[in-house]
Amino acid sequence: MATLTYHGHATFSIETDGGKHLVIDPFFGDNPSCETSVDDVSADFILLTHGHYDHVADAVPLAKRTGATVIASHEIAKYMEGQGLTTSPHHIGGGVQYPFGYVKMTPALHGGMLELPGGEAFTTVPAGFLLELDGGQRVYLAGDTALLMEMQLLKGRVDIAVLPIGDRYTMGPQDALRAVEFIEPKVVIPCHYNTWPPIEQDSAAFATAVGDRARVEALKPGATFHF
Ligand code: NI
Ligand code: MN
Repeated sequence: MATLTYHGHATFSIETDGGKHLVIDPFFGDNPSCETSVDDVSADFILLTHGHYDHVADAVPLAKRTGATVIASHEIAKYMEGQGLTTSPHHIGGGVQYPFGYVKMTPALHGGMLELPGGEAFTTVPAGFLLELDGGQRVYLAGDTALLMEMQLLKGRVDIAVLPIGDRYTMGPQDALRAVEFIEPKVVIPCHYNTWPPIEQDSAAFATAVGDRARVEALKPGATFHF
């Protein structure tokens, strides 16, 4: 059994069946919906979808303390190497086998600036991740993205889809519903909403709209999901 913990906004940690700790888009200290201190988080691998501050804010200190490997696009990996971190670069469409499973980097339609000190030279494309974990679970983390036709390629390949619903910067609930129709996951975990007023959304209304297409697990920050 694997455990996913939602830390609010778009920050998640996953403990796999094999006991590896993954952290996705670490944004703890400045995240208004997060009550967890980054100092209390375990990490063997840190996955970064893109360089916006609300996805990478705590990546460097977390990786330095834990020695975790940073999985990110080539350009963000270059920046992280410059910070003295261990990295595993990917690019869109490329997968790598890790001790916890297989990770493929998927497309996302969004901005690509790396919003960390000195990061201006490391502009890159944003991404999502498709994970095939050691326990057999298939998890799609869409990242910050618009609805993509490419999501249709994921149909039947995803058990759990983590989708942004906040609107304004990413898909809103209506397009996230279309993403559910494209992907046909068993479970949908909404994210990237209610962190600040401009991305307030009603996750219960989203769950009602999804209906019997999938089970919506609208996790409160700090809540866990076992799968
Ligand atoms: Ni972003
Ligand atoms: Mn974001």
